[in-house]
Amino acid sequence: MSDFSTGLQCKVCGKLYAKQALNFCTDDFGPLEVVYDYDAIRKNVSRAKIESRRKNMWRYREFLPLEGEPTVGPQVGGTPLIRADRLADALGVDTLWIKNDAVNFPTLSFKDRVVSVALSKAREFGFKTVGCASTGNLANSVAANAAQAGLEAYIFIPADLEKAKVLGTTIFGAKVIAVNGTYDEVNRLCTQVALKYNADGQNNWGFVNINLRPYYAEGSKTMGYEIAEDLGWRLPQHVVVPMAGGSLVSKIHKAFTELHTVGLIDGPVTTKMYGAQATGCNPISDCVKSSRERPKPIRRPNTICKSLAIGDPADGMYSSKLIKSTGGWADDVSDDEIVECMLLLARTEGIFAETAGGTTLAVTRKMIESGRIPRDEEIVICITGNGLKTQDAVTKAIQWPTTIQPSLNEFESVYMGAGELVGV
Ligand SMILES: Cc1ncc(COP(=O)(O)O)c(C=O)c1O
Ligand SMILES: [Zn+2]
Repeated sequence: MSDFSTGLQCKVCGKLYAKQALNFCTDDFGPLEVVYDYDAIRKNVSRAKIESRRKNMWRYREFLPLEGEPTVGPQVGGTPLIRADRLADALGVDTLWIKNDAVNFPTLSFKDRVVSVALSKAREFGFKTVGCASTGNLANSVAANAAQAGLEAYIFIPADLEKAKVLGTTIFGAKVIAVNGTYDEVNRLCTQVALKYNADGQNNWGFVNINLRPYYAEGSKTMGYEIAEDLGWRLPQHVVVPMAGGSLVSKIHKAFTELHTVGLIDGPVTTKMYGAQATGCNPISDCVKSSRERPKPIRRPNTICKSLAIGDPADGMYSSKLIKSTGGWADDVSDDEIVECMLLLARTEGIFAETAGGTTLAVTRKMIESGRIPRDEEIVICITGNGLKTQDAVTKAIQWPTTIQPSLNEFESVYMGAGELVGV
């Protein structure tokens, strides 16, 4: 397999770096991003070639920064793009699609995409130990994929995460470090550990969201390629994306631009990107709405949407600029609206999304109601995580079943009596 990535580049000063496990510019601490030889990619890809491959994220391998075949997560991606007509009716819009990464393999969130790139790259670099700081989904994915790859994993999480997310990390045998603090405090500790254990040249550790971050972030692009291909190699007019660190929203747009650059889709790229956050932790949506230059960190996030609760987002400034440059917008919603929209999605489309999904749908609804997204234009909503991991959020919102004895009489007295039995 050919590697069309040519190196890393600082997003602030443009300085080029050779491929290595490094995420910041040594001159100005700007973030590094993978760069590619798009002329070479153009000569090596075609729609037919991509379509002939298996339906997973690696069918877009020319756009990913690996030297060899992926060795971690070869089955990740290829999730369904669903035409959501019942939800469209409920929202009063013509054309709505759901990109459903709540069923991604193996840990039911889009994080499997980023982790498969990061850990495959970690193995190319020769790392035996990997780690991350996480709001939950990344933890699940690093732990599962590291187990399958035979890598040792150290996972740092805030101690107050949902039980299912802690269990869904520990089950894979990872070393889980629960820290009394916010995600940003956890991440700071993790950065100190990464610096210390990479300093002596012997204990080289690959931290997915730290020194491997440029490679990890590229995995998010595959959601964008899949949306375009499933729409028949064309782009939608509006895409709504949940934001935590702010990487996914920019990378989906990068994917659209790349497809156009190499001639796989017609241009120009006019898709408007929208970002969704919870009001209890809204540094990026606040930045977009207030026209601040960079996000103001939120010191104490307070929301049921823990997966998006990053108070000091690494890619916050870039994503807010990107959103505005596309003509899109960002907004945030209350915890009640998040729960309401988790139910709305479940009851119209049969999709049980986690709190981040409720957030994304609630923000979409807000954009439609305010007129920012026109009702007759095509919309894609990105659902990125599974509701089975955040059950506490909805336990009070659903009606629990009445228990009866196994008798027809009792069934009829409870259900006929209440007038609930329909269809007879
Ligand atoms: C379910 C879910 N959706 C979206 C995101 C946002 O990703 P990003 O940090 O790239 O903005 C996260 C991040 O943790 C997540 O867990
Ligand atoms: Zn720089």
